[in-house]
Amino acid sequence: MKTIIAPSILSADFANLARDIDAIAKAGADWAHIDVMDGHFVPNITIGAPVVKSLKNATKLLLDVHLMITDPRKYWKDFQKAGADIIVFHIEAVKNAKELIEEIKASGVKAGISIKPATPVSEIEDLLPILDLVLVMTVEPGFGGQAFMEDMLPKISRLRKIINDKKYNCIIEVDGGINGETSKLCVYAGANAIVSGSYIFSSSDFKKAIDSLR
Ligand code: DX5
Ligand code: ZN
Repeated sequence: MKTIIAPSILSADFANLARDIDAIAKAGADWAHIDVMDGHFVPNITIGAPVVKSLKNATKLLLDVHLMITDPRKYWKDFQKAGADIIVFHIEAVKNAKELIEEIKASGVKAGISIKPATPVSEIEDLLPILDLVLVMTVEPGFGGQAFMEDMLPKISRLRKIINDKKYNCIIEVDGGINGETSKLCVYAGANAIVSGSYIFSSSDFKKAIDSLR
């Protein structure tokens, strides 16, 4: 399967989101990754469901919504209604994750779980059979432009082994500090979806940057 590239619009120009999302689509992006932060689960505030709704009308790209919020159970539906195609929440933020995954899937969108750097794969292993996607954070969530944590690679390999051995249908996505070099490490370890923000948006040639991630 071809590696999915999901540029994080956190590094786009927020006054020109439609222009930037169109540019990454033309440059070959597969998904648009949207970072939702509440200033509580992470020490930063970004955007909410109304922005997702406007983006939905501005692009055909699949919207990969990464909820870095304390109460995903309360807010996920707003994002689903706004047009999110994949809803990813953090395992560290919820108690009964299985129930929430099932609710999200029943609404007709894909469900994913993200794990922070300190959270081991064992915390989510029993959810893999029902998950569409697992998002391995390769930086501490909260900000774009941080350095890739190489010690997250064993988590990716471990997930790849479990998913292949058990033949689960679950995408492994990585997020944080991904550039042309660190992307290779993640893909070799078993990731098949790549989020990248500052690397793509600071580049003068989006297509070249996206191609270098595959
Ligand atoms: C970090 C976000 C990431 C971030 C990635 O909390 O989840 O999606 O935007 O940005 P870069 O690629 O610059 O590390
Ligand atoms: Zn993200």
